[in-house]
Amino acid sequence: MTAATPSPHQRPNLFRLDGKTALITGASSGFGHHFAGVLAAAGANVVLGARRTDKIQARVDEINSFDGGRAIGVTLDVLNADSMAAFLQASIDEFGQANILVNNAGVESGAKTYATITEDDWDSVLDTNVKALWHLSKLFSEHVGADKARTGSIINIGSITAWRTLKGQFPYAVSKAAVKKVTEVMALEGARFGLRVNSLAPGYVLTDVSKVLLESDRSDAFRARIPQRRYGEFEDMDGPLLLLASDAGSYMTGASIVVDGGHICSEI
Ligand SMILES: NC(=O)c1ccc[n+]([C@@H]2O[C@H](COP(=O)([O-])OP(=O)(O)OC[C@H]3O[C@@H](n4cnc5c(N)ncnc54)[C@H](OP(=O)(O)O)[C@@H]3O)[C@@H](O)[C@H]2O)c1
Repeated sequence: MTAATPSPHQRPNLFRLDGKTALITGASSGFGHHFAGVLAAAGANVVLGARRTDKIQARVDEINSFDGGRAIGVTLDVLNADSMAAFLQASIDEFGQANILVNNAGVESGAKTYATITEDDWDSVLDTNVKALWHLSKLFSEHVGADKARTGSIINIGSITAWRTLKGQFPYAVSKAAVKKVTEVMALEGARFGLRVNSLAPGYVLTDVSKVLLESDRSDAFRARIPQRRYGEFEDMDGPLLLLASDAGSYMTGASIVVDGGHICSEI
């Protein structure tokens, strides 16, 4: 260690995000709604995007009512290129820059198999979970790369279905496996823009995306396979999210962090 390097106990603000601006897609409900509050509480300006403007505005008002909270909401459809460009521009107009992008918006297509999904199911899931993630990341990378002094962190929300899967998750599991690989390729190619690119891969938490399974009659048996014997809570993601967003993760890029109570280690 050089004389100039502070030891960890001299870096109490290691996970702080003061002065940074974070964009969160799919912030109208579930993980994205929660993540916006976590990043704001760590000191970031936050820009919330999703299609349900009323829900976004309610969360923005809530965050702005916190001591030090600074949030804006933007109506965002990640399937629309102009909408994504406007989302990034709103961040720049309001806060001068964008430093953190949480690619969280995601959909599933119900409990269908590869034999029962339709072409529309395939397009909807792959376009939202993968193509849109790439598109917004490209715009964000151009913004970060335009200023040599700027650095950025992209956090792609993956899923344990990239490692393990079960019947009835065909296009969703395929899309999340792609998110893992997209993360690795973007980390490799994005370093020259001053970017770190990582993925946070949650296990199962009850939301609109997961309720098809978690509220089904398979739920108890499914939960019994998780070493910690419980589904996740949003708060279980807070530490890993802040690690990837902040300087605490400054030497991390291309990683996928699985946060699942040990689910992917379960016996076959
Ligand atoms: N729940 C789990 O157990 C679990 C586990 C692993 C990973 N995940 C992932 O976590 C992420 C968030 O999902 P969630 O579980 O929190 O479910 P959720 O509550 O349904 O959230 C999905 C979010 O995506 C947004 N969204 C969907 N299509 C969009 C579009 N075209 N444009 C903009 N926003 C769009 C939705 O907002 P609008 O409808 O308002 O646009 C909503 O805010 C997803 O990537 C999901 O795959 C979830």
